[in-house]
Amino acid sequence: MTDNSSRTPTEGLDNAWAALASEGYILTSDQTIGLPKNFRQAFLRTYFNDRVLHCDEGDWPADRQRARDLIRYQWRDGALHLREGETTTILTDRAGIPGKRDHRRVSVLDDPFGEQLVRTFLSLVPPDRRQNDGTFGVNLFRTFTNVVSKPHRDNEEFVILYVLDRAGYGAESYLYHADSDSAEAEPTAEPVLRHQLNPGEILIFDDERFVHDASPLQPSLEGTAHRDVLVCTVDYRSTFLGEVPSACGYLLADSELG
Ligand SMILES: [Fe+2]
Repeated sequence: MTDNSSRTPTEGLDNAWAALASEGYILTSDQTIGLPKNFRQAFLRTYFNDRVLHCDEGDWPADRQRARDLIRYQWRDGALHLREGETTTILTDRAGIPGKRDHRRVSVLDDPFGEQLVRTFLSLVPPDRRQNDGTFGVNLFRTFTNVVSKPHRDNEEFVILYVLDRAGYGAESYLYHADSDSAEAEPTAEPVLRHQLNPGEILIFDDERFVHDASPLQPSLEGTAHRDVLVCTVDYRSTFLGEVPSACGYLLADSELG
C-alpha cells in the first residue's frame, strides 16, 4: 500500500474551477490539463487488454468489458495524500443496477501514469467542494455496442469521462438538466450538452445538476466498433465507505489515513 502526497500546483486551474461552479461541467482535453502526450498510449497498453478487462455476468450493457480501482484520498493543508482503497465493492445502486457489485480490480497507484491521472483529476475539483477524506473511483470500460443503459445519474459528486480510444461512430454524450432529484429522472428538454467525445477529450460534470446519457456506438465502414473510456467518480462517502450523513456531517467508520 502506498501513501503518496505532494502539493498540487493551482496555476491554470482557476478557470476550470470557475466554469465547473457556474456551468456545472467542463469539456477539456488531456493535454490541456497537463497529462503527458503519451499518456493514452501507455495507459491503453497497460490496462486495456484481455489480461485486465473482464466481461461480468449481470452487467449492462451485457457485452461491456471492465475493471475498477478505488483510491482513498485526503487533502491536508493543500497536499493530496493517496493510497489504494480497501475495497472496490459498490454498496449503493448505480445506473439502474441494484445491490453490491464487485468487478476485476486494478491498482493504478502502482503506476506513475495512474497516480498522475488521479492527482490531476482530483485537483480539478474546486477547493470549496473537496472532501477532506474521500474515495475516488477509476472505472475502465471497453464497449462495443451500447455505451450506457439509459439516462441516469451516478449519484456521486462529480463524474469524469475520459475517452482513450474509439473505433466507429456515434457514442455521443448528453447532459440534460433534470426536473427532479431522482437518479432515474427522465430528460424532458433538449440537452445542455451533446458531444461525441474523441480520444483525448475529457468531460467533467457535477452529477447532481444533470442526467447523463450516451447514444450507441456505430460500426465504422470497416465494420469495427469499440470505445475505451475511463469513467472516474469523486464519490460520496456512502458509495464505498458505507457511511451515511448525520446531522453534523458524516459518521466516520475507520481511522484516518496515515
Ligand atoms: Fe453514468
